[in-house]
Amino acid sequence: MPVISAPHAFNEGRLFVDLQSIFGRSLYLKCEGFNFAGSIKLKAAAEMVETAERDGVLKPDSILVESSSGNLGVALSMIAASKGYRFLCVTDSRCNLSTRLLMEALGSEVHILSDLDANGGFLGARIDYVRGLCASDERYVWLSQYTNPGNWRAHYRKTAPEIAREFPRLDVLFIGAGTTGTLMGCARYFRERHRPVQIIAVDSVGSVAFGGKPGRRMIPGLGMSMRPPLLDESFVDEVIWVEEADTIRACHRLARRGFLFGGSTGTVVSGAMDWLTRHDTRGLTAVAIAPDLGERYLDTIYQANWLQDLYGDHVFDAAEVPAASRVIKPVPRAPGRRPKP
Ligand SMILES: Cc1ncc(COP(=O)(O)O)c(C=O)c1O
Repeated sequence: MPVISAPHAFNEGRLFVDLQSIFGRSLYLKCEGFNFAGSIKLKAAAEMVETAERDGVLKPDSILVESSSGNLGVALSMIAASKGYRFLCVTDSRCNLSTRLLMEALGSEVHILSDLDANGGFLGARIDYVRGLCASDERYVWLSQYTNPGNWRAHYRKTAPEIAREFPRLDVLFIGAGTTGTLMGCARYFRERHRPVQIIAVDSVGSVAFGGKPGRRMIPGLGMSMRPPLLDESFVDEVIWVEEADTIRACHRLARRGFLFGGSTGTVVSGAMDWLTRHDTRGLTAVAIAPDLGERYLDTIYQANWLQDLYGDHVFDAAEVPAASRVIKPVPRAPGRRPKP
């Protein structure tokens, strides 16, 4: 029975979902959403804060500041609340409403930027804003998830060993790439142990992380509008780019079977299934990482109007859209008539 006294002391690291019955191909999905921050970012946040404390960078009057599309912000909010630090999250208009409310509920301040940078993202503007804050008051401490080695080290120390322990004969690992902390930590772990595991990075179309063309991206988590400073491509065997429409289809296909995952999980699963379809996978053991769950995306990925406005009607064929979401006009009911039970 786990008993904890700090919220970051618990993380479920041993849960995998076998997607064979949903997609017709064996893929074990490692679920990272079962902790009090609700995402894989808890690991990076805890590692970076603990290192900053050990190095004497964080002092009792420090104000943590970070640029985040949401999940790291929630994780840092939780840790800051638990340890008694103030935290300011700099995010942008793509951050889900529920994610912002979560951070505020945990006592954090949230600044939302809405100016796109030259690559069609918000990252450049967010980083400039954080730099400005740090220059204005020396109490600000920026952990900088984009450059902090604690980000990838968290996955080297935790995520990768959790996978290796359960799958000693792993052949291929699919990892979504944002800051590339998860990707680099896992890739380094398997490479250093000379394990013949193929490391497949999954990025979204419109991200420039691996040299793709910049474009509109509406789903937070994966993709970058700059080259990730942590990325060393020599550790990556292949990169797959996934269209947001395919991300959404994968998310809804999982949801239809009762598994409500976040957007980046849809991206990784879609890319992995595509890869598995193109290769001879007989006897192959494949794992993918699901960074979070779906509740934070109820007003975006799982909301019919949001989907229709951004991606048009073609994002689903009729069979894939739940009946309730397809009802556009309410059915008029005759006055005084009660619906049949
Ligand atoms: C939902 C989600 N998926 C994937 C990622 C990417 O992880 P990483 O930054 O380790 O590449 C993030 C990062 O914020 C995320 O929030």
